[in-house]
Amino acid sequence: MEVEVTVADPFAVGADLVAATGRRAVALGAPERAVRDADPVAMVYTDAAPLAVVALGPDGLRTAAAQAVRSCRDGGTVAWAIDPTLPLEEQVRALAEGAVLGGYDRRRWRSGEPPRGVERFVICGADLAAVAERAALVARWTNTARELVDGPPNLISPDGLAERAAALPRIRCETLDATEAGLGALAAVGGSSPIRPRLVVLRHEPPGAPESPRLSFVGKSVTFDTGGYFLKPQSDIVRQKADMGGGAAVVGAMGAIAELGLPVSVTGVLPICENMLSGSAIRPTDVITTAAGLTVEVTNPDAEGRLILADALWWTRRDGATHVVDLATLTGAMRAGLGDMYAGVFANDDAWRDAVVDAGNASGDLAWPWPLHPRYRTLIDSTVADLRNTAGKTFGFPIVAATFLQQFAGDGPWAHVDMLGTAMLDEDRGDAFGRGATGYGVRMLVELAARLSDAASS
Ligand code: BES
Ligand code: ZN
Ligand code: ZN
Repeated sequence: MEVEVTVADPFAVGADLVAATGRRAVALGAPERAVRDADPVAMVYTDAAPLAVVALGPDGLRTAAAQAVRSCRDGGTVAWAIDPTLPLEEQVRALAEGAVLGGYDRRRWRSGEPPRGVERFVICGADLAAVAERAALVARWTNTARELVDGPPNLISPDGLAERAAALPRIRCETLDATEAGLGALAAVGGSSPIRPRLVVLRHEPPGAPESPRLSFVGKSVTFDTGGYFLKPQSDIVRQKADMGGGAAVVGAMGAIAELGLPVSVTGVLPICENMLSGSAIRPTDVITTAAGLTVEVTNPDAEGRLILADALWWTRRDGATHVVDLATLTGAMRAGLGDMYAGVFANDDAWRDAVVDAGNASGDLAWPWPLHPRYRTLIDSTVADLRNTAGKTFGFPIVAATFLQQFAGDGPWAHVDMLGTAMLDEDRGDAFGRGATGYGVRMLVELAARLSDAASS
């Protein structure tokens, strides 16, 4: 979808649908009644083009723009009449983002011709093209992440996901075989599948970027998580194609950061595998050796995310990362606690945790701080190995998982985003996303990288 900005009249840009909210819709000729009845859209037929009166949803104009795009079933051009009494820049940003997010086609795996969709979204009444372009760009990459998460696990398999990552424009990509690279935990989890586990490394290294910071974004990329020998119940297993949501966020963010040409070095790291049930799957009570050299007693083969992330975190530190963020659909308890709105953020450094949380909240990927404490460490003491991968208690699951990761995160700033609730929506929250994958994390990571590159170059 092309997003344009013009000072022209909304009825003068050849639109198939003109859309506006509240007072602005009334000024364009909509009756007061239409504003009251919009749920979330009320159509008014004018001589020029149909006028969609859109209610302001919970996420304001972002949701409204997405609703306007969705209500234009036959596609074509939507003109949005902006409200001159509201702050312009914020308005343009929200509209551009909402329009692109609203244009996402969740049913793209159907056969036959794809629906035409909205081709042009013209924001009328401003001249802030650069603002709109940036917001649309990030939203398009958010949609790329959504497509990967919504994609079926037979197609977005370890091979499929690695191919999609390798095809990113402007990014250098290497793929390491887990066993050859000495990534023992990734090899052990992924050994359950005939499709081999691997570490995909994506690099954005613009010429002239400062030596420090060197950012690293690590994304859990389990393309399907059966739970292994702790097989998941039907109600949970059907959601597990989304278990690469962290990796999808990293792919989307790297794509956006490279397209924006942000002047900072960023590495994306994807430990990719499937957690399957087979003769070569890990057994409960197996002891495996991680890349860091620490041994882990696998008390629960369904706590596989922390195992593969352990190797990826260790690898990226050794590779020279100064600031690390990992994103993962890690614990069901995070969703039980925070619902589908917020992700939880842990860190070994308060300033870095705040930077991640602030970037998330400013970008629309809502985030909330969670605690770590050295005394949680005893929960993962093993009687046979250096660590166990679960505590075997009935409490504290997200914190235990984060404490496990912390053992592999090295000394510099590291943050962990447990995005289980926000990655995939069972129900429409009434915002720009509807049901299904949200691409959570793309906007957060791009905002974080932009803020760091601003700070480094000033
Ligand atoms: N992939 C799951 C988490 C998950 C659950 C994702 C539901 C999407 C929907 C993760 O690997 C997992 O199994 N977590 C366990 C951890 C537990 C064994 C400590 C959980 O949260 O139940
Ligand atoms: Zn699991
Ligand atoms: Zn998992």
